[in-house]
Amino acid sequence: MAENQNPAPPTPAESNTPSTGDIGSSPESVPRSPVRSLLRLWPYAREARWRIFGSMAAAGLASLSVLAVPIVLRGIVDGPIAHHDLAGLWPLAAALLVLGLAEACLFGVRRIIVARPLAKVETRLRGDLFAKLQRLPISFHDRWPSGQLLSRATSDLFVMRLFLAFPLVFLVVNSTVFLTGTVLMFTLDWRLALITLVPAVPLMVYTRRFEAGYSAASRLAQDQNGDLATVVEESVLGIRILKAFGRHRTMAEEFRRHSAALRDTELRKAGLLGNLWAAIVGLPELALGAALATGAVLVAHDELSVGTLVAFLSTALALRWPVESIGWLLGFAAEAASAANRYFEVMDEPEPADVPPAPRGAGRYPHSGDAPADDRGIRFTGVRFRYPDAPAGTPDLLAGIDLHIRPGETLALVGATGSGKTTLTALLPRLYEPTAGSITLDGTDIRDLSREELRREVAVAFEEPTLFSATVRENVLMGAPNADEQRLARALDTAQAGFVDRLPEGLDTEVGEQGLSLSGGQRQRLALARAVVGEPRFLVLDDPLSALDVHTEALVERALRQVLSDTTALVVAHRPSTVLLADRVALLADGRITAVGTHQELLQSCPAYRALMSGESELEGALAR
Ligand SMILES: Nc1ncnc2c1ncn2[C@@H]1O[C@H](COP(=O)(O)OP(=O)(O)O)[C@@H](O)[C@H]1O
Ligand SMILES: [Mg+2]
Repeated sequence: MAENQNPAPPTPAESNTPSTGDIGSSPESVPRSPVRSLLRLWPYAREARWRIFGSMAAAGLASLSVLAVPIVLRGIVDGPIAHHDLAGLWPLAAALLVLGLAEACLFGVRRIIVARPLAKVETRLRGDLFAKLQRLPISFHDRWPSGQLLSRATSDLFVMRLFLAFPLVFLVVNSTVFLTGTVLMFTLDWRLALITLVPAVPLMVYTRRFEAGYSAASRLAQDQNGDLATVVEESVLGIRILKAFGRHRTMAEEFRRHSAALRDTELRKAGLLGNLWAAIVGLPELALGAALATGAVLVAHDELSVGTLVAFLSTALALRWPVESIGWLLGFAAEAASAANRYFEVMDEPEPADVPPAPRGAGRYPHSGDAPADDRGIRFTGVRFRYPDAPAGTPDLLAGIDLHIRPGETLALVGATGSGKTTLTALLPRLYEPTAGSITLDGTDIRDLSREELRREVAVAFEEPTLFSATVRENVLMGAPNADEQRLARALDTAQAGFVDRLPEGLDTEVGEQGLSLSGGQRQRLALARAVVGEPRFLVLDDPLSALDVHTEALVERALRQVLSDTTALVVAHRPSTVLLADRVALLADGRITAVGTHQELLQSCPAYRALMSGESELEGALAR
């Protein structure tokens, strides 16, 4: 990939990836009702269900104690105040105080109940997402930009947890309080209650429209957030290239464009919410004014007691918060629903089924020695492959590979850049699945091996060596977690990674993100050590020595020869010096193996091979001079 390194990485919105509105083809993106999306969170919230219900109960009781206040007020106005009975006032005033205290305490309790278990729910959701991302095939990761995954694992999960902690509880509680309060208003005076409720009808219609618009805007904002994360991630990872090519301005422009788009969407959301809010606050206010005027007339005609009017108005006022909150509660629910949708889009992605080991019968040899000589080693039979996103009408990248690598043999794979060498090697550890044909290891189809077995048998080192933020030791031992110090030392020796001793803390030196603090050649040698430390039976090396100087390469090769003598190896090679390490060479061209033989044989018999090698060797010769 390094050869076609592009100074300006493709922007997520332009690339053919699931981001803003570009997932239309996947079955998961069928719009679900917000309620159904949110219901899918239930299995995760289950664990905390008693807490959530308890919290609802506490909040409900607190709100009901607020609704009890008007009743007490009516008692005060129609009783002690109307009769100028100061002594009768005290118990009722005390009741008001108790109700106020109860409300405050219950709200406090609700907070305490719900906070911690929901943090756990979020942790579980996040853990499951991470595990899923690890299991999904490479082809999934080829398609999905990392920022989209990152934003799902962070901001979307946060929104989902917050929804379970507050809006969910209040949606339930406030609806209950609203219904109770409405019943109470009707029992106090049905005429005033009707007047107060008139705006409810247009509000309901308006709210439904709001919900649809707001859901769409939330989804867009979350996708744009993911695009933004991708831009940030790429500019941080690619900082050297951006600086070297002076493209940081382009990237900053890119960032500004994405963040402006996100800002516009957020403003649209705020606008929608603001309009709803204005309607929800304004209309009931008018209705309340009308109810007050009507009430005053009724009191004047002695058809209503002053106490009842006071009680009615304070009930209506107590319902203000439940009603006003509906706007942002629905907004939040819509946001949580689309966050849940985004989460489950990833969780619903099909995983490669891990085929259980086949019965040890025909075609399977528990010990390599059991297989007929012809079947031993690595065998590709009629293997075809094309990338899922390859343009239609193009021929398959691999169009019928037939290749046998004999046990203990080292076979070099050569071919022009882009001929599919890396792809072919990626089929062996099953990073991709062939679209046709089969690959066998000592006669056993690799699909009949469990992933663990396969990973134990086959070790790989890629051209682009990836190191993790961990110590040198941890990075190398990823290849064989149980290897002892001796084997570790031998692997480092083989890979000529003596430079490790000169690192500040030797094997325990932390190598930075992607091993950036090491040179390319040093990283390659650690990756090579990782591949050989497990002393695998089958070794796949994708041009593992490309970043080494010729002298070091020769040393590595000599050491590799010893390792490779017991190992069946497929080595992608560019330089004649690497090819010389191999017993035989196979030439990949036009999706097929067009020639197999020793280096000398192919030099004599195959013009294409000669051309490929001479180009390289001439260049090397020129450089040497
Ligand atoms: N993940 C991918 N998705 C789609 N196309 C790819 C992917 N990786 C490589 N390709 C394409 O497949 C072709 C062969 O790539 P590769 O196997 O890396 O070639 P080589 O290693 O021989 O240089 C190239 O045209 C490349 O653009
Ligand atoms: Mg390659």
